[in-house]
Formats: sequence, C-alpha cells, structure tokens
Amino acid sequence: MPRRALRNVDPALDISAHFFPMGDSSPSWTPERWFKGNAPIELEVGSGKGLFLANAAAGSQDRNFLGIEIASKYARFAAARLARLGLTNAVLLCGDGKRFIRDCVPSASLAAIHVYFPDPWWKARHKKRRLLNASFVQDVERILTPGGALHFWTDVQEYFTTGLAVIAASTSLAGPFEPPARPAEHDLDYRTHFERRTRLHGQPVYRAEFRKPLR
Ligand SMILES: C[S@@+](CC[C@H](N)C(=O)[O-])C[C@H]1O[C@@H](n2cnc3c(N)ncnc32)[C@H](O)[C@@H]1O
Repeated sequence: MPRRALRNVDPALDISAHFFPMGDSSPSWTPERWFKGNAPIELEVGSGKGLFLANAAAGSQDRNFLGIEIASKYARFAAARLARLGLTNAVLLCGDGKRFIRDCVPSASLAAIHVYFPDPWWKARHKKRRLLNASFVQDVERILTPGGALHFWTDVQEYFTTGLAVIAASTSLAGPFEPPARPAEHDLDYRTHFERRTRLHGQPVYRAEFRKPLR
C-alpha cells in the first residue's frame, strides 16, 4: 500500500522541544536534554507519523517515550503532533535507529522497545536492509533492562516468521507472547497509522511481544 502525501507542518509551531536531529557525527545518549526527570524510557524505532508515541505518552505520563525516525519529513510531522498535544514526555530523534541503538544507547537502559510495521524490503536482494536482523535484535537484548519488553508488529507474515526465527536464534528473550487484539473505539484508536490502515483494509496484523529475562 503506498503512503499518502504528508500534510505540511505549520511553520509557526515550535517543535524545538520535541525534534532533535541526530546529525551525521557522533550522535549521543542525552536523556537529560530530552526529558525532565528520570522516568523509565521506551524507544520506538521507525515512528512514521507518531501516532504510537502520542497515544502512549498521553496514556502513560509516568514514562518517557523516545521515537527515532530516519525520514526527516516524518520525524518533523511526528514531533509536531507531540508539540501540538503539549506532551512533555515524548520526543523525536531524526536519524538511523540501527546506528543509534548500536553506537549510542547504553546497556540495560530501556524499559521497552517498539518496532511497528518496519519496511518489508520485498525484493530478495534488498532483504538485507531489513531492520530486524541478528545484530539488531542482539542490540535490543543488550539495551533492555531486565524484564523489559520488545514489541514487534507487522502486516507481512513472512517478515513476522523470519523475525521471530532471528530473535529465537540470536537472543535469550522470552516469547513470543501474543498481545490480544481489541476493537478500535475511535478513528485514531490504533497502535500506529500502519495498523489503522491494515485493519481498515481487513488485513491481518501479526503481533508479538518478548521479555528480557530478569536474570
Ligand atoms: C512502514 S513505516 C511504519 C511507520 C510506523 N511505525 C507505523 O506503523 O505507522 C516504517 C518507518 O520506519 C522508518 N525507518 C526505516 N528505517 C529506519 C531506521 N533505520 N531508523 C529509523 N527509522 C527507520 C521509515 O522511514 C518509516 O517511516
């Protein structure tokens, strides 16, 4: 399914407290810049339009939410959504989530990692570009706190099966557990925009959750 063109972000809206470009050189782990206080942090990789971050941050004020999105126009759009809602516990980093996780995120520092509808890279020769590979899931295991969760949802059954196999072969994460599906109660009551459009098209969503063992 192709993506619809994005609305422009209102240039008068101040997104400076919600949008942080990582830049090409030495991105760093600076939660004190992003959040007030030191509540547990959850990370979403590939935030798209930011629906998950907005709903999760509004619903869990006792947690901080960090989104990382590689496409600048989507990162700005998502940051604008957070700014308009006045959320102080969610921000967007613009950059490569794989690199950020590998090079910047300290071990045992995140309460949860969310990966929703990662790009499927359909062609066989492009599959190596997929986000979920052995080194990514090993990094995920390293940066989760004991008891922390990895959430992986997709509409691509083959990616789901391969992703679960990679997690089983490369990590000690417990799972997969299947979170229950529930009916949407309003138009934006979905985990993400991709979940919304998949379900509105009557297509299945494959959901899995994993937990890092306590010790
Ligand atoms: C198919 S979209 C899904 C967006 C959103 N998660 C949703 O479910 O609506 C995948 C998103 O991941 C982003 N992305 C792809 N590779 C990335 C990477 N290495 N780091 C951060 N974001 C990435 C893409 O730009 C795109 O916005």
